[in-house]
Amino acid sequence: MITTIYALAFYFATILLIVGLAYRIYEYATVPAPLNIATTPAPTTVPGVWLRMFREVALFESLFKSNKWTWIFGYMFHVGLALVLIRHLRYFLDPRYVPDLLWTGLELVQPIGKYAGFAMIAGLVGLALRRILVNRVRYISSPSDHLMLLLLIVIGISGMVMQYIDRTDIISLKNFFMSLAYFNLFDWQPLPDSLPLMVHLTLILILMIIFPFSKLLHAPGVFFSPTRNQVDNPREKRRMVAWTRAIESGSGK
Ligand code: HEM
Repeated sequence: MITTIYALAFYFATILLIVGLAYRIYEYATVPAPLNIATTPAPTTVPGVWLRMFREVALFESLFKSNKWTWIFGYMFHVGLALVLIRHLRYFLDPRYVPDLLWTGLELVQPIGKYAGFAMIAGLVGLALRRILVNRVRYISSPSDHLMLLLLIVIGISGMVMQYIDRTDIISLKNFFMSLAYFNLFDWQPLPDSLPLMVHLTLILILMIIFPFSKLLHAPGVFFSPTRNQVDNPREKRRMVAWTRAIESGSGK
């Protein structure tokens, strides 16, 4: 029964996550950006913009310039999360279909990923304390800002409980996700019976469902930010969008 509920819930949450994210990305990509508003100093060439975007995503450059404490905790959390998620891939991949080199890479990440959980949680706790202790940040924080951090912290803690205190049967867990991936409908492999696993999975389902409606959309959103993705060339090249072209040609009057 529990297995069926979780199986159906994971299908539902996956569809919502994929469709919701695709819709949001479509929205971001089609919002008009009629003006050149690159935050200067900005690159004056397209490769320069790629490099700026890379620095933004890989190093959180603009956050680093604005606030070192937020940068340290934010960076710890995101790098920890990335390593933890790479480590998790082994639950969802069938080694028969993964190139050997990639699988070896995944195996190498396992021991690092195990400790990355600590960095992830420490970063999240730092970010949560900032929202509670810094007056001007507390003033502009909404309940969802706090709850999002809490959700991620409890996901992390339940994961660490499984890792260090109350181990769960990873083989059965993998069989369960493989039976979902191969669409063995209503013949899913049973989920292992484990309280921390139930907590972990339930909160992950919540995370997947709220993702397309939440502030976590900054992950795809950063790539669509005009202040970051525009080239600083308004003197060399006039910025034309559909409606300015229509007015120029006389058809938009
Ligand atoms: C359906 C998706 C997921 C499944 C099936 C899953 C399952 C697990 C399991 C079984 C462990 C224990 C690892 C072990 O004993 O070796 C674990 C650990 C952990 N999980 Fe997840 N998890 C999922 C998604 C996530 C997500 C989205 C996050 C973060 C937002 C996360 C954060 C963690 C952390 C921090 C640990 C402890 C460190 C580690 O062992 O890597 N998990 N997870």
